[in-house]
Amino acid sequence: MSDNYTEILKENGQEHLLKYLEIANEEQKKRLIEDIKNIDFKKIKELYSISNKNTDKAIESYIIEHTKFVDKYKISKEEFDTYKNIGEEIIKNGEYAVVTMAGGQGTRLGHNGPKGTFILNVKPQPKSLFEILADGIKRANDKYGITLNWYIMTSTENNEKTQKYFEEQKYFGYPKEKIKFFKQGNLPLISEDGKLLVDENFHIKYAADGNGCIYKSMKKDGILDDMKKKNIKWIFIGSVDNALLNMVDPVLLGLTVSEGNSIGSKSVVKRSPEEPVGVFCKKNNRPAVIEYTELPAEMAHERDEDGELLFGESHIMCNLYNIEALEKISENNLPYHSAHKKASYMDENGKMIKAEKANAYKYEAFIFDGFVFFDGISILRGRREEDFAPVKNKEGQDSPETAIKLYNDYWEKMGKIK
Ligand code: UD1
Repeated sequence: MSDNYTEILKENGQEHLLKYLEIANEEQKKRLIEDIKNIDFKKIKELYSISNKNTDKAIESYIIEHTKFVDKYKISKEEFDTYKNIGEEIIKNGEYAVVTMAGGQGTRLGHNGPKGTFILNVKPQPKSLFEILADGIKRANDKYGITLNWYIMTSTENNEKTQKYFEEQKYFGYPKEKIKFFKQGNLPLISEDGKLLVDENFHIKYAADGNGCIYKSMKKDGILDDMKKKNIKWIFIGSVDNALLNMVDPVLLGLTVSEGNSIGSKSVVKRSPEEPVGVFCKKNNRPAVIEYTELPAEMAHERDEDGELLFGESHIMCNLYNIEALEKISENNLPYHSAHKKASYMDENGKMIKAEKANAYKYEAFIFDGFVFFDGISILRGRREEDFAPVKNKEGQDSPETAIKLYNDYWEKMGKIK
């Protein structure tokens, strides 16, 4: 390594990396030097400066207001049909596509692999989360006589495994040429004292940059161009971990078009003030979501005169955009949020250290931070029992057990499970 690097690392407070080079063999040295060459020091400083910010204070600096929504089941039949017809027309014209954010791992679930490969023991036979999504899109294809384009975002950590899984499962019978994978980016983990961490392979430790980076990834990887080439005008972006995710709801689409908005979203009523979901609001008069990790307890408990939670419209990761909206967001930078996490690492003597408590910061952009670039958003309140069966935790609330029950109950009600 040239002295140049020594100087740069010293100037940027990362000289501890030099110690790793002293204990590395030739191969490991090459790897670490390559990583060092790619460090964006300006970005690291910017990220570290937001670590551990008092988010309650940040929220207090905005004017936060309750936001309006339309209840799917409280509007007149006439209104419902109008929205439905508008949406169906767009879908049948081939101007609609769906995107799945599958960059996450099933860590909280205790699943070792891409979250979408997690198997739910649903009736009549067990299915992975990916298969459940594929079946949902196939049902819409049959109904509208089309084959929707399905885009899937993976991460460095799970891209290979995800694509292999789709191949092994023969794409769940979905036409392969209608599926396109793209990869999200990474950001470094930073220790409490601002240092980059190194793993057992002499690589600097990185983690996925959050689902909000989807906009830039779609632009960078040519997904937006591909959509434009295919004349796709409306795009649904959803999560991988909701067993009842309805990716093709013409009512949401028709409502968004009718209200003249470029973005829309489905919500359900928040189960309790403590439920770990983001909630819709207006932030300085712009559409926004406050994440559960950042919502002050006092606001979470506030109720209106009817006794409903004032911030009770849950963001269930059921988001809709027109192509221009995606272009617009992708050209802007979203803020990063930091989370204090446990991160194992290798120390300067080559010894692996397993973190017993949070010791590093992880940085992520959040998908809903893209909403702020618009004057309005159409929010359609759906029903939990038909729209939201999250699979987040190993047991208890939002676990495979609760999701399986919601899934089975819904499909039994629809007459699909005999
Ligand atoms: C997320 C939402 C929250 C919402 C809840 C509903 C964000 C920031 N938070 O919280 O507002 O109420 O879901 O279930 O969106 N993902 C990636 N790449 C990443 C990180 C996540 O693709 O880098 C994907 C996951 O695979 C999953 C989705 O984003 O499909 C949600 O991820 P997760 O981080 O588990 O979200 P929650 O904390 O549950």
